[in-house]
Amino acid sequence: MIIQEFEYILKDGRKAIIRSPKEEDIQGMLDYLYESAGETDFVLRYPEECTRYTPEGEKVLFERINSSDTEVMLVCIVDGKVAGNCHLAWNNRIKTGHRARVAIALLKDYWNQGIGTRLFQEVIKIAESNEQLLQMELEFIEGNTRARALYEKMGFRITGVGVNAVRLKDGTLLNEYHMIREIKR
Ligand SMILES: CC(C)(COP(=O)(O)OP(=O)(O)OC[C@H]1O[C@@H](n2cnc3c(N)ncnc32)[C@H](O)[C@@H]1OP(=O)(O)O)[C@@H](O)C(=O)NCCC(=O)NCCS
Repeated sequence: MIIQEFEYILKDGRKAIIRSPKEEDIQGMLDYLYESAGETDFVLRYPEECTRYTPEGEKVLFERINSSDTEVMLVCIVDGKVAGNCHLAWNNRIKTGHRARVAIALLKDYWNQGIGTRLFQEVIKIAESNEQLLQMELEFIEGNTRARALYEKMGFRITGVGVNAVRLKDGTLLNEYHMIREIKR
């Protein structure tokens, strides 16, 4: 699915462009994946695990998402740099096709600028316009107060906990909280 490109002015005045991924974003996306993995423990990858992401793989991914009816990626570009993205996906299966998964991450330089809020407003609109969807689902890792605040503000509530779902390099075990946001039909 391809979205209509739009602009968003960050709280600090910088201008962001939000749009579907393009081939010109491939290197920016690889840089973002690597950088974000080193900036926070709240994504599920360490920088050294990013070798599995390649320009060819990103190209295929972008093409798959952009041509899909059940998947969309919103990329946020600030000053020509990929600042982050938000991904929404579901399937067409009878038993699970009512559930859409959401994932989001931004580079640290762009946190607390309202980008997460703006991206969520958009993916909520997309989910609500797809009649088959009855709920949006996501997870956050224990301690991620910023993500939790954003998700609760956008109408998500905690429904469960994955105990010790994440283990950091130093052995710390962290819970993962499951959230959903129901779509009124
Ligand atoms: C989590 C993330 C996506 C949020 O996006 P964002 O653009 O920073 O979020 P926004 O600026 O739109 O909103 C964040 C909200 O959290 C609040 N907040 C910020 N820091 C906070 C904290 N430490 N505790 C509680 N709330 C906090 C802000 O005040 C804001 O609420 P408001 O709009 O009502 O003032 C982003 O910070 C990020 O990418 N973090 C690293 C990766 C990550 O954690 N991804 C999510 C994995 S589940």
